[in-house]
Amino acid sequence: MEEFHKVRRLPPYVFEQVNRLKATARAGGADIIDLGMGNPDLPTPQAIVDKLCEVVKDPRTHRYSSSKGIPGLRRAQAAYYARRFGVKLNPETQVVATLGSKEGFANMAQAITAPGDVILCPNPTYPIHAFGFLMTGGVIRSISVEPDETFFPPLERAIRHSIPKPIALVINYPSNPTAHVASLDFYRDVVAFAKKHDIVILSDLAYSEIYFDGAPPPSVLEVPGAMDVTVEFTSMSKTFSMPGWRMGFAVGNERLISALTRVKSYLDYGAFTPIQVAATHALNGDGSDIAEVRAVYKRRRDVMVDSFGKAGFEVPPPAATMFAWAKIPEKFRHLGSLEFSKLLVEKAHVAVAPGIGFGEQGDDYVRLALVENEHRIRQAARSIKKFLSTADDTMHNVISLNARR
Ligand SMILES: Cc1ncc(COP(=O)(O)O)c(C=O)c1O
Repeated sequence: MEEFHKVRRLPPYVFEQVNRLKATARAGGADIIDLGMGNPDLPTPQAIVDKLCEVVKDPRTHRYSSSKGIPGLRRAQAAYYARRFGVKLNPETQVVATLGSKEGFANMAQAITAPGDVILCPNPTYPIHAFGFLMTGGVIRSISVEPDETFFPPLERAIRHSIPKPIALVINYPSNPTAHVASLDFYRDVVAFAKKHDIVILSDLAYSEIYFDGAPPPSVLEVPGAMDVTVEFTSMSKTFSMPGWRMGFAVGNERLISALTRVKSYLDYGAFTPIQVAATHALNGDGSDIAEVRAVYKRRRDVMVDSFGKAGFEVPPPAATMFAWAKIPEKFRHLGSLEFSKLLVEKAHVAVAPGIGFGEQGDDYVRLALVENEHRIRQAARSIKKFLSTADDTMHNVISLNARR
């Protein structure tokens, strides 16, 4: 029987292949250190959990909730934007709560895309940025992820040579998986570009609060006039270690927010009210929870960069996000990222995310998530060191003769 139309547009998840190997190795008793999935391991701060427990006792909260988010939650998100970015939002018309930012992004794609519409999307990138549109019948044109002067000339060409003309541009800084961070000047150019070409900007700011060096990442909405063409997505998953709670936001242009709100009103009744109240409590907090989360990831990052570097696996320090994006060591690069990731599971008992899972431009890289503690990260580095130092002798079939020491 033929595959369903939509399912045909969703190839098997690349990460699944590494996950399967991981499961097999674990079933055989191996202790796999998992730097693969970006699934935060830190517990949600106690005060947020307590708020949920308190509110859930009230049976009135057990009814259907509000699809676009309870008013207090939308006000709290508007207050966060005002405080953090100096961006003024009307909580009634410019803010909608989503079931995690992934759901918000996918349903925005659904709301604005007609079959055949062209979307400009970074490569490599977090998969929903492309697949959200592919599922709705959109067509992806890949663009660069580097937020510098090299970004625009190919973008101009993409606009000129796409038929029909693209309707939207996806940006994601700090970037998953590359950890690139954009400056406000870059955003100014992006907004000017979008206005010149009459396209919409969809900005994924899931890592707004996970930064380590330099100034906090800006929002594209800080650019004067950006609101005319932009929607931005944020997430409670990383900021407050609440990935399982499924709480995020879309904010920005009223027409776009209204389109998303309309689609969602047909699909869901909003997150469980106690979750929305607890999320409101989190957003209205003093920021100390966020500072703690940030500090943990920063320490892990420093340990990873140092210990992996000493092990012979160079890892550039990410300035933000909970990921490092590392080039595969030279002598293994020809294997591609999927085969290299499988080798790491089998031979070093370390799971990583193969770069190819984020797009073809990612195939020379693997992504390492900072979701194991410092001790485990050092342990991973030791195993990788052993694997790399013995590979010449043990992997004749993999490493070509002239690539050996
Ligand atoms: C860039 C990016 N956007 C969105 C998400 C999804 O976040 P949420 O849990 O809010 O759906 C992730 C999760 O890893 C991400 O890395």
